[in-house]
Amino acid sequence: MTYRLLVTDEIDPEGIELLRAVPEFQIDVVPTLPVPELLGRIGDYDAIVGRSATKISEQVLRAGTKLRVVGRAGVGIDNIAMDVATELGVAVINAPGGNTIAVAELFFGAVIGLLRHIPAANHSMHEGRWDRSALMGAELRGRTLGIIGLGRIGTAIALRARAFGLTLIAYDPYIADERFTAVGVTQAHSLDILLAASDIITVHTPLNDETRGLIDANAIAKLRQGAIVCNLARGGIVDDAALRAACESRQLAGAVLDVYNSEPLTGEHPYRARSEMLLMPHLGASTVEAQRDVAIDVCAAVRDALIEGELSRSVNIAAGPDDWRAVRPALDLARHAAAVARARLSDDGHRAIEGVTVKVGPDLAPAAGLVLAAAAAGALEGVVAGDRLNFINVRNVAAARGVELAITQGGDAPHPRAVEVRLRAGGTELRVGGVAAADAPPRITRIGAFHVDVAPRGTLIVIGNADVPGVVGRVGTLLGDAGVNIAEYHQARLAAGGDALAVISVDGVPDATVRVRLLAIPEVKWATIVHLQG
Ligand code: NAD
Ligand code: MLT
Repeated sequence: MTYRLLVTDEIDPEGIELLRAVPEFQIDVVPTLPVPELLGRIGDYDAIVGRSATKISEQVLRAGTKLRVVGRAGVGIDNIAMDVATELGVAVINAPGGNTIAVAELFFGAVIGLLRHIPAANHSMHEGRWDRSALMGAELRGRTLGIIGLGRIGTAIALRARAFGLTLIAYDPYIADERFTAVGVTQAHSLDILLAASDIITVHTPLNDETRGLIDANAIAKLRQGAIVCNLARGGIVDDAALRAACESRQLAGAVLDVYNSEPLTGEHPYRARSEMLLMPHLGASTVEAQRDVAIDVCAAVRDALIEGELSRSVNIAAGPDDWRAVRPALDLARHAAAVARARLSDDGHRAIEGVTVKVGPDLAPAAGLVLAAAAAGALEGVVAGDRLNFINVRNVAAARGVELAITQGGDAPHPRAVEVRLRAGGTELRVGGVAAADAPPRITRIGAFHVDVAPRGTLIVIGNADVPGVVGRVGTLLGDAGVNIAEYHQARLAAGGDALAVISVDGVPDATVRVRLLAIPEVKWATIVHLQG
């Protein structure tokens, strides 16, 4: 299989090399494309890798009919229509961490630059002046730095800030109390507490509905006279008009800005006229080291997503375990178990799936959400249109069809890595379960009330029959005559002479008449043939 990748926004060559090393990839490296050109081309590609300059809008995602992966060489994903990507089953992969230090270091460079008038000093020197007395500065030492958002960058700044003798306070309602202690900052239990205590505030949160305008006129009014506001996170977290007004009125001593509501900042933007605003053109991640690191990071993850279906790095997938590879067999088992149950229910006339429930053994508990998504995919595969039904969009697809998804907890599991899938349709429920052991291929070990033992691979023929002598022979002969090669044949019964169930794993795809001929055997009560995908 060949994949086409569009790489844009000047991704570092070391990342591109990593993609070029994959024989299945055809790569087009282009500068940031104007929207109409991007819309015209995106339909040809399986993946796009870029930075924030390329907006992955709803329109782009819908035009990208083959698109499977969006790679973002950076942290922020606010340039991507995430809901639409999730709806369409497009994995969004970013590169968190690679540019953390670059932003943290820039913060100190910029704040010291503002306090010591370094840009003005440099400018005056280049203009031939010696403005020493006009450039009296101030120190960081002894000031209180308020950090809003104690994630990667907030933490990196906190750790470095101590060396400058800053007092630290941080506000982040999504971080455990112990983390504040570990980082060595005072925890502000509200934004107001932080604002009242700080001489300098710096925001390091994502831009979302909660943080848009977080630092507005009200918040700025709570700051000490002469405070400094820094935003190296995302434009819009600090309210534009409020910041300007507070600088004009000298309520604020100044601001450090790397990000803006709309980028690039227009030539005539009022910020440009204000000398107490130290402005940078979104330079936070612009170091050789950061660009190399984020490019390598995202390109490796995009490669793994396309070639191996490894989606653990996708930010729009339900959180799963750290070790995706160890969980993969359980996901395949859940998908196949659901496919078996769906085929069986469907042959019984119950086509509309009403619910999918999974139960997993204790070793798989951290991955239960993913196992459920895999089971839902197995239940809906081939039923819903489109080839992009996957772990990312399956919950949305299920919800849109009114299929209830649930995880059952408690009770004894037959194995630490057991997977049980129950499908509900037409008021009937069917249970198919198995074991995805760490050191052996997965097995289906239960279908309804019957204990079986078969590998979920290729095509499975499941038969309900009367437990009388000769059935196995007759079925085997029929399959042999039809040219169907049996890989495994497992016969199970509840009690001698009662109901029995056979599950037969065969190579290839038997022709359509095989089921009809099986049903013609008098002892065979029903027969279901399932082709397991992947
Ligand atoms: P992160 O996810 O590690 O940290 C974000 C933190 O914000 C988290 O700890 C989260 O709990 C916290 N948070 C979320 N909502 C909050 C709220 N309402 N109030 C307080 N805290 C809240 O992210 P990061 O890697 O540290 O990046 C932080 C920001 O910097 C992002 O917006 C990212 O896009 C931006 N960024 C900018 C540049 C640049 O070039 N200027 C480079 C890298 C990252
Ligand atoms: C990021 O979110 O990683 C930065 O803003 C840098 C970038 O946009 O590339």
